[in-house]
Amino acid sequence: MLHDLQDELAVLQGEAPTHEQFAALPLLDAVVKESMRLLSPVAFTARTAAKGATLAGHELPERAEVFISPLVTHRLPELYEHPNRFLPERWLKGEPPSSWAYLPFGAGPHVCVGSSLAALEIRLTLAMLLQRFTLLPPEGARIDHRVQATLSTKAGMPMRVLPKQRVERPPRITADIRELFDVPAGV
Ligand code: HEM
Repeated sequence: MLHDLQDELAVLQGEAPTHEQFAALPLLDAVVKESMRLLSPVAFTARTAAKGATLAGHELPERAEVFISPLVTHRLPELYEHPNRFLPERWLKGEPPSSWAYLPFGAGPHVCVGSSLAALEIRLTLAMLLQRFTLLPPEGARIDHRVQATLSTKAGMPMRVLPKQRVERPPRITADIRELFDVPAGV
């Protein structure tokens, strides 16, 4: 997948993508979307019921707290085939999921007002980095995760910044981040 993305970005010839070029970088878009599906930066958010209500058959009293977790929703097998696998290609075919099924930026009246800016920044940064560098965790790196309102690593993300290259054998990591998705065999 990394090699496919490096190949797609070669058209940029080391430059930042223009607005028009972004539309011609489908794999970049798919990789970012799939990363934000599996590792949603916002793990959960909450709402307080202003008055009693029925939600999906559940009676909610006034002031009941309801938690909404993209981490959970993004892993529902009825919404995503092989939900724990990193499969960017799922974004390249078929209908995209509804805004209630894919919500890294929230949904509804309080949807993230910075989502377009953030989406652009992420794609721009990744496109520029991957044209020059290959980022790899050191062999045996320990990468543990922490779920608070946001999803993060417990102690940063050790990373080697190497000149851009083909990676034949990715380093093995020992980490509980493996609990968050199915790591391909051999990694
Ligand atoms: C990867 C980056 C980002 C992620 C994952 C993200 C995610 C979210 C999510 C999930 C919500 C909804 C919270 C809820 O429903 O309770 C939200 C709300 C919000 N975000 Fe972001 N955000 C990001 C970047 C930004 C940026 C760059 C800005 C500003 C430039 C921003 C400004 C806001 C604001 C003001 C709200 C509150 C909207 C409201 O309550 O009406 N966010 N964000």
